[in-house]
Amino acid sequence: MKQLHVLITGTTSGIGCGLLEHYAGNNFHVTALNRRTDETGKLRWPGVRFVTVDVRDTAGVAQLIHALAQENDLPDIFVLNAGINRVDNDTHLDLVQFRDTMDTNLYGAINFAAPLTELKSWPHPIKIVAISSTTNYGANPYCLGYYISKIALTRCFQILSDMYSSTPLRFKWVILGPVPTAINSSGDKFPKIMIIIKNLFSATLENAVHTISKFALNNRHQLIYPWKAYFLFRAMGIARLLIPGFYQGQKTLSGEPRHCSK
Ligand SMILES: NC(=O)c1ccc[n+]([C@@H]2O[C@H](COP(=O)([O-])OP(=O)(O)OC[C@H]3O[C@@H](n4cnc5c(N)ncnc54)[C@H](OP(=O)(O)O)[C@@H]3O)[C@@H](O)[C@H]2O)c1
Repeated sequence: MKQLHVLITGTTSGIGCGLLEHYAGNNFHVTALNRRTDETGKLRWPGVRFVTVDVRDTAGVAQLIHALAQENDLPDIFVLNAGINRVDNDTHLDLVQFRDTMDTNLYGAINFAAPLTELKSWPHPIKIVAISSTTNYGANPYCLGYYISKIALTRCFQILSDMYSSTPLRFKWVILGPVPTAINSSGDKFPKIMIIIKNLFSATLENAVHTISKFALNNRHQLIYPWKAYFLFRAMGIARLLIPGFYQGQKTLSGEPRHCSK
């Protein structure tokens, strides 16, 4: 049987690191792409090809895809996992943080999709998996860039999946609920009670990695995981619509937040 080639972005921590461990330990040919050299990973997985490219670098990513196509080594699966979460909309809307989040989470995936669609032909089926979020359904308004980037990412992959359905390109997306990793707390500005509730609805890192790695191989387009988080975020979205000030931090004419959750 042909050894499958998987390229994973953002393998220095969290879900990407778990996926790297899973695929490298199960006889896949793995390319790990990171914005900084992963010395620990190199020592731990000598069989893995480590590439240093920032997913925001449109030209660098395109060059890599074209080089892989020329070497006849295009991955069978891309797991576009790299992402960031920043508080960008607390006291004011911080354009620098917002743009960086969009560049990483949205363009950081589209930078791979675009050169793949440019190729004249594809030697085999290629699965391109975006890691989106249940934040699609119940935004954290303090992390506006995260919400907008993930909702745009999901919509983009839904459209691409339709448009390229009769080619070997298979666009897929994961709507992922909370998982205890660095990113999960980096953008938190919810009231404490919401964080406790959110943690009750999260998946373990091990289960998330296991489920995503299986989904990347199958022919389904969408994975929502875990379902309990989907229901929580849907309920939060509805509560935000029905209860004014549900998330707190609503601005007044003076520019001061109406409630203070700090
Ligand atoms: N954990 C959750 O609750 C959750 C829920 C829904 C969706 N997700 C999504 O799952 C994905 C993985 O997140 P995680 O939970 O594993 O978070 P994480 O532990 O913070 O990992 C993020 C990874 O992305 C890499 N990265 C960030 N910016 C990059 C860039 N410009 N170029 C290349 N790599 C970059 C990071 O590298 P550095 O080490 O260099 O920073 C790190 O390896 C993200 O897309 C996230 O939005 C997570």
